[in-house]
Amino acid sequence: MDWGMRNRLGRMFPGPRANTVMLAVDHGYFMGPTHGLEDPRATIAPLLPYADALALTRGVLRACVPPESGTPIVLRVSGGATVLKDDLSDETITVAMRDAARLNVSAVALSVFVGAPGEHRSLANLAALVDEGQDAGIPVMAITAVGKELEKRDARYLSLACRVSAELGAHLVKTYYCEGFERVVEGCPVPLVVAGGPRLDSDRAALELAHAAVAAGARGIDMGRNVWQSDHPVAMLRGLRAVVHDGASVDEALAVVEAAATPVARAAPRIAPGTRRSVSRGATPSPR
Ligand code: R5P
Repeated sequence: MDWGMRNRLGRMFPGPRANTVMLAVDHGYFMGPTHGLEDPRATIAPLLPYADALALTRGVLRACVPPESGTPIVLRVSGGATVLKDDLSDETITVAMRDAARLNVSAVALSVFVGAPGEHRSLANLAALVDEGQDAGIPVMAITAVGKELEKRDARYLSLACRVSAELGAHLVKTYYCEGFERVVEGCPVPLVVAGGPRLDSDRAALELAHAAVAAGARGIDMGRNVWQSDHPVAMLRGLRAVVHDGASVDEALAVVEAAATPVARAAPRIAPGTRRSVSRGATPSPR
């Protein structure tokens, strides 16, 4: 792998565990101004210091993210369908690789729709994008999208979709967590990160999802709604960092969230001396 591509991947997976906490704010490309992301600039600004990478479209990147930011960018480059259509799989490539290079992104991302009407086109898009990414030194992240068919998210389907993505050359894959996620990891020879999906019942449930995914071998998360639809998005992202980067348990991470969400106690608790883990990195912004 060329130096440029290794450098880009390395910056997205920082720290001794080489895991990542990506923040997904690309939903507007097919959902419009969805709850929590009505004003992307306002949503992104307080969260940016706590994200290892930011996943978004070029429109929001140019309009809402300061170019001085050192946070790696994962640029969504597929689109063309909206929630007003039943079939969300009718996507095309919406950004030229030369514009991605001009934006100095760390990776490009596209949805693949295995088993949907748009399967062939999305997989052909992936293969073509990998060729262009190889030329430019820019990694490609495949997103195993299920459109409105959320019930598709089981180990059998996701194993297939992730493996197909890796076989076609994706450098990393974003997928969903599911029961039996170890099988998905085992069958996918490139790093996997997990999305959160629609807002879960509680912060604890989102932390449990991240914890279980990392325990099963995911290299981190690329989460959106369970962060910025939370009552306290920054605290939530800090709790997720504790899980992904520090190996915190769900209870420890929840303590980080609760402490960070309390106005009078901004500092997150430390794990008692003598215990194996520290949550200190989860309590502080990444060093950018
Ligand atoms: C789809 O809108 C995008 O790929 C999202 O980035 C992805 O689903 C992650 O966001 P969430 O955690 O909200 O599912």
